[in-house]
Amino acid sequence: AHLPPPPLYLSTKNTHSKTPTNLDEIPGPTNWPLVGSLFELLRKGGLTRQHEALVDYHKKFGKIFRMKLGSFESVHIGAPCLLEALYRKEGNYPQRLEIKPWKAYRDLRDEAYGLLILEGKDWQRVRSAFQQKLMKPTEVVKLDGKINEVLVDFVGRIGNISNNGKIEDLYFELNKWSFETICLVLYGKRFGLLQEKVNEEAMNFITAVKTMMSTFGMMMVTPVELHKSLNTKTWQHHTAAWDRIFSTGASLSPDDLIGDILHQSSLSKKELYAAITELQIGGVETTANSMLWVIFNLSRNPSAQRKLLQEIREIVPPDQDPSGEHIKNMPYLKACLKESMRLSPSVPFTSRTLDKDTVLGDYAIPKGTVLMINSHALGSNEEYFDDGKQFKPERWLRENNTINPFAHVPFGIGKRMCIGRRLAELQLQLAMCWLVRDYEIVATDNEPLDVIHSGLLVPNRELPVAFIRR
Ligand code: HEM
Repeated sequence: AHLPPPPLYLSTKNTHSKTPTNLDEIPGPTNWPLVGSLFELLRKGGLTRQHEALVDYHKKFGKIFRMKLGSFESVHIGAPCLLEALYRKEGNYPQRLEIKPWKAYRDLRDEAYGLLILEGKDWQRVRSAFQQKLMKPTEVVKLDGKINEVLVDFVGRIGNISNNGKIEDLYFELNKWSFETICLVLYGKRFGLLQEKVNEEAMNFITAVKTMMSTFGMMMVTPVELHKSLNTKTWQHHTAAWDRIFSTGASLSPDDLIGDILHQSSLSKKELYAAITELQIGGVETTANSMLWVIFNLSRNPSAQRKLLQEIREIVPPDQDPSGEHIKNMPYLKACLKESMRLSPSVPFTSRTLDKDTVLGDYAIPKGTVLMINSHALGSNEEYFDDGKQFKPERWLRENNTINPFAHVPFGIGKRMCIGRRLAELQLQLAMCWLVRDYEIVATDNEPLDVIHSGLLVPNRELPVAFIRR
């Protein structure tokens, strides 16, 4: 909303003296008959290393390249000027790549679609029902009390379950924290996930989301109809996982935020229910994952952590809980989060399916093309971030900061960007305050940490960190 008017070269009128080149001329890896570049990608380490392969391709081919995997073709963009061009030309209902397996389940069980998979006017209707409560800063800041309520339990639990400061399966603990918070915000109800004896229903939900996520990839590259008619194991596991996900939602009675939205919007109960389920799916692991990377980056950068602690101590009186109001005066904290999300993004890329012919830079790209927007490649590109491999929160605070806003897009861009962005940021910022105030986060080794792609970018081993009480 605060962007300057578009430069002339981005105008939708044809002011180009040069005729744009078409799709066929976009460079890319060798496109073999039938398989496309699938084998090349497998040779480069397979799907779990795809984020690295894509960074390599951007290095090799530049800002834009095209790639075919089996029959799935996409155009990858990894330059701020192309993202800006896309943003300026965006229509009213931007669309992501269609997730057919998810739709197939809803159609099978006659359930509604949520924001992750809705399209067109229906998407806009549901989006605007949630937009006000979730994206308006003055509304989101009011959620700090609930976020803190869960954080009190979380930091306490870290102390209780740690063994010499080490936590077994920290990622799972963070997922429980994130789930507990999002449920309290959405339903106004505690699940008790951070207690000694946890609620089985909620645990089931978390494992069901994991199963659902790990079974849909296969059905994106092979026809879901085939899986359905052959009743393959993948299809069975996928539908069983969705059944469990939806039954958890059904066991909750909407209150608070949801109650408000239900009363104020014209959504049917079924629509609301699907929308909330997808908010949980979109919000739980992403937030937990981002917190995991913040913890890792602070453990490896003790001087940044000390500076952060100093800011916390200056702004938050020791007898007070950190609040949304405090955060407003904590630039270093915000810079630490931004820098962590740049260096270690959770969601490496998002997508758009073009709903009209669009000129991006030198290329005319036809309607229907799937564009992959690679925020991971952008964040690791030295052209946009000097000393890009280093964790340097200060880069965001320089007076003459020249970082292009389209080079840092961990929550996507435009009308379809993450609707949970502000909630996630507040949740993460408050968690950083609580954790760093109470614990020193130390690295237990200094070996490199391998990152793999499993929907999100995750470390390939238990995080080498310990929490030492201050
Ligand atoms: C969409 C990232 C937290 C709900 C997205 C997208 C990204 C993303 C990259 C795609 C945007 C695009 O295509 O332009 C993240 C990250 C998070 C986070 C990194 C945490 C740090 C959350 C939370 C919620 C949420 C807390 C729910 C409360 C959603 C939904 C969408 C979405 C529903 C689809 C929006 C639409 O299509 O209208 N998120 N997200 N996310 N996210 Fe998040």
